[in-house]
Amino acid sequence: MTTPSPSLTVLRGGLVYLRDDPFLIDPAAALVHESDGVVICRDGVIEAVGAYDALRGRIPADAEVARYADSLIVPGFVDAHVHYVQTGMIGSAGHQLLDWLNDYAFPAELAFADRAHAEATADLFCDEMLRNGVTSALVFCSVHAHSVDALFEAAARRGMRLAAGKTMMDRLAPAGLLDTAQSSYDQSKALMDRWHGRGRALYAVTPRFAGTSTPEQLALAGALKAERPDALVHTHVSENLAEIAMVRDLFPEAAGYLDVYDRHGLVGPGAVLAHGVHLTESELCRCCEAGAAIAHCPTSNLFLGSGLFRVDRAKDPHRPVEVGLGTDIGAGPSFSMLAVAGEAYKVGQLGGYALDAAKALYLATLGGARAMGISDRVGTLAPGMEADLAVLDPAATPLLKFRNDRSRSVEETLFVLMALGDDRAVRATYVAGRLAHDRDAPRRLSPALGAARAPSDPTVARGRDPNA
Ligand code: GUN
Ligand code: ZN
Repeated sequence: MTTPSPSLTVLRGGLVYLRDDPFLIDPAAALVHESDGVVICRDGVIEAVGAYDALRGRIPADAEVARYADSLIVPGFVDAHVHYVQTGMIGSAGHQLLDWLNDYAFPAELAFADRAHAEATADLFCDEMLRNGVTSALVFCSVHAHSVDALFEAAARRGMRLAAGKTMMDRLAPAGLLDTAQSSYDQSKALMDRWHGRGRALYAVTPRFAGTSTPEQLALAGALKAERPDALVHTHVSENLAEIAMVRDLFPEAAGYLDVYDRHGLVGPGAVLAHGVHLTESELCRCCEAGAAIAHCPTSNLFLGSGLFRVDRAKDPHRPVEVGLGTDIGAGPSFSMLAVAGEAYKVGQLGGYALDAAKALYLATLGGARAMGISDRVGTLAPGMEADLAVLDPAATPLLKFRNDRSRSVEETLFVLMALGDDRAVRATYVAGRLAHDRDAPRRLSPALGAARAPSDPTVARGRDPNA
């Protein structure tokens, strides 16, 4: 027998993905479902995707077919806003945003002065994302340049497509976390030169928020974006009422919070603004017109009591703003994009809007990819797209199985996964066609214990799919 090409990966199972925005076109036309589908990946890219019966002739005879019976293969999730440097303080209770920053976030980020701590956290963070089916993310690092190197190196070892940047912060934070306008420019530029477009890495110019940047620093952030228009911009906006009042006091000349960024060239294509809970109608119009996107972070907004984002308002087809979903670790307490989608549903309900599963899946995949400007590469399943995939198990727990045995449509199954699911429902994650997380792989607790466990997936077979 010939050795199968290591660059070939074939997955068979149910397929569910969005080919377009269901907020803007008929959701039935936007959502694609194949009950028995196949994804053929070669050299990290999707070569063919569709119904198994239609494509079985294109599966090479020596291919291993990973058979995910009764599972749903979706595009890898896109986490459009997350702080890896806050991984160690998730679930810190008792405060709203500004006090939470001072008491929990800043102390956690001070620890990243130690490069070894940054490296260990980056490894755990990337693994945790993969355990949750997240294959792309837009990530805040700390103010320390080496925290960016540590994250991109960890992502490169796993082949993940991440965008990230050094936090720029030159006032109103502990001394150990402050840069200056000039040093933040110099360090960000050096990092951008080192990482932007290297492998799957992308650089994001990352002023933390208007409250911790001087006008000089925001101007230099805008200058960096102008120098590399294909880089991203990543910041926070209008998350919390006390924060908005703070920004109003610091920038009395601006027409509003968004305008602070707009005046500095930071609102445009490639800009992802986290939260936007309290953006006004005219600010949403401006985001639409300029092509800036919002990362909706419902778990975080609930945890910090920040407010209820109106996704239906942001996505108003008359002036739609691109919206992705973010875990906002560590204000958000979960790495699970299923959990984030479930909370987006509840936040919608509190605003009188019922977010359906197709729209939620859009926000968690293609919407996030569009927000980040990477939807030509990830976010959906199509030939030529990078082969980032998550395999969801609708029967991951006894309760999920009991409930999903009663689901009458793939939309219902997906919704139940979002309402009840978490990392346990992610059976496998593929990054650029490579298996990067296998939930059922034997755990390496010790060599003896590991050896005693059954092989992870008896349905992975060499040669023709035995279930065909
Ligand atoms: N606004 C400014 N910094 C932060 C942060 O670290 N987390 C959140 N949720 N909001 C912010
Ligand atoms: Zn944040």
